[in-house]
Amino acid sequence: MSKIIVRGGNKLHGEVKISSAKNAVLPIMAACILSSDKCIIDDVPLLEDVFVISNILKSIGAEINIDKNSNKIVIDSSNIRDSMPDSELVKKMRASFLIMGPMISRFGHFKLSLPGGCNIGTRPIDLHLKGFNALRANIDVGHGYVEASVDKLIGNNIYLDFPSVGATENIMMAAVMAEGETIIENAAEEPEIADLGKFLNNMGASIIGAGSDTIRIIGVKELKGTTHNPINDRIECGTFMVAAAITRSKFKINRVNLEYLKPIIAKLTEAGVYIKPHGNSVIVDGNRDLKPIDVKTMPYPGFPTDMQSQITGLLATVTGTSIVTETIFENRFMHAAEMKRMGANIKIDGRSAVIEGVPRLTGAEVRATDLRAGAALILCGLAAEGETEISDIYHVDRGYVSIENKFKALGADIARVVN
Ligand code: EPZ
Repeated sequence: MSKIIVRGGNKLHGEVKISSAKNAVLPIMAACILSSDKCIIDDVPLLEDVFVISNILKSIGAEINIDKNSNKIVIDSSNIRDSMPDSELVKKMRASFLIMGPMISRFGHFKLSLPGGCNIGTRPIDLHLKGFNALRANIDVGHGYVEASVDKLIGNNIYLDFPSVGATENIMMAAVMAEGETIIENAAEEPEIADLGKFLNNMGASIIGAGSDTIRIIGVKELKGTTHNPINDRIECGTFMVAAAITRSKFKINRVNLEYLKPIIAKLTEAGVYIKPHGNSVIVDGNRDLKPIDVKTMPYPGFPTDMQSQITGLLATVTGTSIVTETIFENRFMHAAEMKRMGANIKIDGRSAVIEGVPRLTGAEVRATDLRAGAALILCGLAAEGETEISDIYHVDRGYVSIENKFKALGADIARVVN
């Protein structure tokens, strides 16, 4: 198992380039099922999650070619068949469930293992299933599996109880070749959904409003192959912005989209971080007198839950009292216990963390409990006095491409130890 060792205290400097967005690439790879033509996705982040969904697609007959030099993926779904994917693979990653919508759309039937919960919450799929049902699919859940079958998907109006990202994506992919029109209301508005909508429209779908709270889909007969360059990763970018703030450093972040970053920029600016746009880059200056703030995670365009652990780590180093409230997942403060091992003063009160900033964190042995918690602990290690050892770093590798090399290039004293 790998660990990351960080010796804190270095100022960071220079430039870092943001990779393509994991949470755009995963649904787009699933959407390749919808056409028997080849699809090409450029500049794919070669992350663990990408390999997991690639193996799942291969297990049901897709041919996948990943060029590790050009980061290009070619997906040929012509030989995909309606067969159950390997359950152990499916359970590895909740996003595996995103193949359900495309498979029902293409075959009118599909059965797969229910996705597991994970450390941050139970991660139910009721909204996905309600959407499929609204499109006339019969849903059967039992013995740890979910099975959907339908003669013909028929468009319908669907109002989501909660703007679920995955449910919005899965229903979109189920509706693209349904008979008639589907309208999804109270849809999730994350930029990754707009990117999926763009990909599907380039395949020949007829989708209006992806990325807004109301999405209109007019079913088409078939979809063809296409080539796509995914959007950049706003959460990776936000993570590096917090790195500048927590180390009180100033550096440049390249390949960013300021529109997607608005909620993150707003909160970091409120805390006193100076963020200067520079074309499709930003200069982030955290070497300032930072102030405590209150943060509440919300569906996009609110402050993203995937940035909650990172900003909690930052506020642990900012003198004064900050309150961070997590409204999206029911158990997403596990990083607090690990940060307290580093001297952070954090009290969890229901869905909120009350943070009293301390002058300096101290290095310790800590454990990554989930993807973003692990990233946040690396950030805390960069600022801490002494050495921090973060174990179970495989969580972080699911969402960040060689994170230690990117930080090393910025001047951090960081290394990966494989044992
Ligand atoms: C996506 O997960 C992201 N993953 C998550 O990123 C992200 O944290 C989340 O959206 C919220 O932004 C991918 O895109 C692959 P949801 P998803 O459905 O789709 C409840 C990361 O770190 N809910 O919007 O699973 C659910 O319990 C990962 O990159 C239902 O109740 O998130 C949760 O409380 C972590 N019923 C809330 O909605 C459902 O049917 C948000 O879930 C579905 C969801």
